[in-house]
Amino acid sequence: MTKKKAVGITGIGMYLPKKVLTNADLERMVDTSDEWITTRTGIKKRRIAQPGTPASALASEAAKKALAYAKLKPEDLELIIVATITPDMPFPSTACFVQAKVGAKNAACFDLGAACSGFVYGLVTAKEMIAGGMYKNALVIGVEVLSSVTDWTDRNTCVLFGDGAGAAVLQPVKSGGIISSYLGADGNLANLLYLPGGGSRHPASKDTLKQRLHYIKMSGSEVFKSAVRLMTDAATRVVCDANLTCKDISLLIPHQANIRIINSVRQRIGLPEEKVFLNVAKYGNVSSASTIMALCEAVEQRRVKKGDVVVLVAFGAGLTWGSVVMRW
Ligand code: UT7
Repeated sequence: MTKKKAVGITGIGMYLPKKVLTNADLERMVDTSDEWITTRTGIKKRRIAQPGTPASALASEAAKKALAYAKLKPEDLELIIVATITPDMPFPSTACFVQAKVGAKNAACFDLGAACSGFVYGLVTAKEMIAGGMYKNALVIGVEVLSSVTDWTDRNTCVLFGDGAGAAVLQPVKSGGIISSYLGADGNLANLLYLPGGGSRHPASKDTLKQRLHYIKMSGSEVFKSAVRLMTDAATRVVCDANLTCKDISLLIPHQANIRIINSVRQRIGLPEEKVFLNVAKYGNVSSASTIMALCEAVEQRRVKKGDVVVLVAFGAGLTWGSVVMRW
């Protein structure tokens, strides 16, 4: 059997809308308080795109930065995967809009829906396609305009989410790269977190509008419990598959949904606080964009250095979950 190529991230970039929505702003919109949001979630503020901003606008800005970082010309790019639950429109794919915006005319394009695990799912998919020899490079983007599907009258959900984009270029690498990966899902728990309206099951109608079916619905505490259990398992499993132990982890980059979920996972794995990256306070839960935005900031803040063992772990609607160990 021929040995698979080692594949790693060779470029990263992120992009955020300018507008900041603080907990104080939300206090004026729904019956909530900065104190409740901070203690229950760890979130202080989030970014919000101007109404009508398509996901591809944020995604293509992040993409341009990642391509520049990797010194890859847009026309040399071979594959674009966009992970999102807030695509520009049901079709064509947001990846096609990004392709046109960045001028990557030779890239194949598709979108991937795995909610908050979307970037990790995309990373593993692209890595395998390069390792198998189908492509020489790929761009994986996590992007969300969750403000467009947030029910701003529902205090259970509207305090949690934000908008943003992150992108990563993947290529064969001589050393390091992605060492192990793991993806999972449980469709029997789809009813814990979903957006019912606008698909083939409930096509858009006056009724779906009246019933507010075009917004995120979530059973918060059920999702919370599953998130802790499944992210702990996903992180532990992938580290073990890499023939490492949790002591070898330089930095854990978890999906940024809730600081209490992250702290519970950290304690179960047995990691000190300084080995876990956090930016949930600044951006809230940006679903598919969360882990890649966190990786971008970790690199920018020099929390990730060459040779470090970095673990990404995510969890989201589906339910879905996934994890990756890479040597930076
Ligand atoms: O990205 C993956 C998907 N999402 C997640 O990972 C989210 C997972 N879940 C969570 O983060 C948490 O469950 C929440 C932050 C959503 C909620 O925290 P919780 O500790 O699980 O609270 P709860 O749902 O048990 O609600 C406690 C109380 C309720 O009041 P009662 O029924 O006890 O009187 C809620 O009505 O808090 C109330 N509440 C609020 N109060 C003030 C819910 N939202 C708010 C709010 N402000 N924004």
